[in-house]
Parts: sequence; C-alpha cells; structure tokens
Amino acid sequence: MATPSRVYSGIQPTAVMTIGNYFGAVKNWVRLQDERECIYCVVDLHALTAPYEAGDLRNSAREMFVSLLAAGIDPDRTTVYIQSTVPEQSELCWLFATITSLGDLSRMTQFKEKSALLKDGSVDDEGSFISAGLLFYPVLQAADILAYRAGCVPVGQDQSQHLELSRGIARRFNSRFGFLFPEPETLLTHVPKVMSTADPTRKMSKSLGPKHYIGLFEEEASVRKKIRSAVTDSGATPSGEVSPGIENLLTLLTACGHPDDADQMRADYFAGTLRYVDLKGQTADALVALTGEMRERRADVLRRETDLDARIMEMAERARGMAGETLARAREKMGLFPPGAPRAVAT
Ligand code: TRP
Repeated sequence: MATPSRVYSGIQPTAVMTIGNYFGAVKNWVRLQDERECIYCVVDLHALTAPYEAGDLRNSAREMFVSLLAAGIDPDRTTVYIQSTVPEQSELCWLFATITSLGDLSRMTQFKEKSALLKDGSVDDEGSFISAGLLFYPVLQAADILAYRAGCVPVGQDQSQHLELSRGIARRFNSRFGFLFPEPETLLTHVPKVMSTADPTRKMSKSLGPKHYIGLFEEEASVRKKIRSAVTDSGATPSGEVSPGIENLLTLLTACGHPDDADQMRADYFAGTLRYVDLKGQTADALVALTGEMRERRADVLRRETDLDARIMEMAERARGMAGETLARAREKMGLFPPGAPRAVAT
C-alpha cells in the first residue's frame, strides 16, 4: 500500500540541539505529528562523512534522540530512531547506487562545496582525503526516505537538490522494475532562519564554535551572556534594511512568541529610537523562558525514560519492520535472492 502522506526527515547527531535546529526544523516536525504519520531519524551514518570521533558518536546520537523527545517528538505516535539501528537502509543504499548516475552525484552542490573545503585542507588534518561516502551521501538520504515510502519531506531549501535526486531514483526504480516508490515531495514550510549570534551573516551552527550558537537547553547565565554580546552592527546595510544582527534578534523574539514586540522594535529601529539594550533584554528574557522550559522537559524525559537504550532499540524494531518490508520487495523486484538466515558459528 502506498503511503504518500507519510512524513520523513533527518537530523545530524550533533549532541547539542541549537535554537536554530529547533526553530528552523524540529518545532515544525513536532507540529506535523498532529497532521500525519511521521518518521524522524538521527542520521549517524551520514555523520561518518564528516570528521568525527568514534568514541563520541554514540553519545552524540543518544543526546540528539533525547533532545528530540524533550522538544516534543512523541515516541508513542511517531517513529523516532537512530539511523545505524536500521541496517536495511544501508543495503537499500547499495541497490540505489546501481541506478544512480555518477555524473548526477558529482554535480551535487553540497558535495562540491564539502569536497572543495576538504581539498584545500581547511577542515581536516587528513588534508585532501575525499571519501566516496561524501559522494554517496544523497544516495543514503534517498534510501532513508524511500525505505519508508515517505511522500513528504520537511527540509530546508539547501536540501532541495538532494530531494530532486531522491525523486529521480524513485522514478528510475519504478520504471525499470515496477512501481514501488512514491516520489517524495519537499515540504518547504516557512520557518525562521536563525543566524549565528557572533556572525549574523552565517547560519547558526554548532560547528562554528560556542559563541555562535545557543543551545535549546542552555543555562540562563550563558544565554544572557551570548545575547548581550551578540553582534548587532556588522558594517553598512542598504538603507531600508535592518542590520543582520538586529534582524536576527527580531527573528528570535518573534520565534519565541512575541511578534508584536518585534514589530514595534522594528518600527523603533527605523524611527531611530530603538535602544539595543532593550531589544537584547527582551530577546534574552524570551529565550531564557524557552530554554528553562526545555530544560524541565528534558529532565522529565530522562526521569520517564529509565532505560534509554531499550527505548532506542524499541524504535529500531519499529523502523526495521517498515524498512525491511520495503527492502524485501525491492530485492525481489531487482531479481535478487532472499537473504539467508545467519547461523551461529563457534569462533
Ligand atoms: N541531509 C540532511 C541534512 O543535512 C539530513 C538528512 C539525512 C535527511 N537523511 C535525510 C533529511 C532524509 C531529510 C530526509 O539536513
């Protein structure tokens, strides 16, 4: 049975969920649970394509899992799981690799950008090592989505090209082997784009360093400090435009549920009467309220989920059930044997 309205999305296991992740994606994911069946994934297999520490990865993925629950993803209604617990997706990735063109993959903007950074040695001490995994990144992403035959993928504009590739893979599979995959559509919801507090011309990201982001569960003192020192004027701005730093604070104030105050302050800005300390004070208060509530919810989750790893495995079971069914059908359509059953061997 086709399930075109199933929602699927993924998030990187960065250990700390930032307010940028929350306002820009996760808050929308929480809302979508009321409308559709949703499946959300912590993409630790994708994380292997960037420099990382093997000893930290499990913990980062677990932290992101907890953060998703604390932010309001409800494991009773929604399948929320860690990518590496579902090996069926990796196998589907191989099957898809055989119907993906190398030319298409090497033309992906994200691949070109990331491999250029690696090439000039600015990211990693391994210098110019560009893994085939980086090239395959969007094939695995297609396998994520199509393993669940999801029809609807809430992501930012930067993922549009990857989604186009996923549709192409679905189309090629269907036309060569018979229909199995609905073509997933990008759900581009209008979400606030939160910029770095230290450099408001760049998107907020944990990888830029601690001054650049605010964590969703961050302590009051440090939230206040980061907002107090947030960059407001970063050089000349075209007339009629608010500076990027002020714009970012207004975005945050609005996202925290105070759009009227933000509008008033925007008007004050143009009237030349806005005091930055007032804007910063109100934004900090709003963020402190949010992060305080989120910390409480996080503590609730940890109290409730007494065996977190058991919960992660329960979610894996649910996800594997769905992905396994799709994989079995894909294998059959492609003319492969069913998998043999493993037998324990003495070593
Ligand atoms: N590539 C996505 C990002 O960097 C994360 C991701 C992995 C994803 N698999 C996905 C998003 C499947 C949507 C659907 O944001």
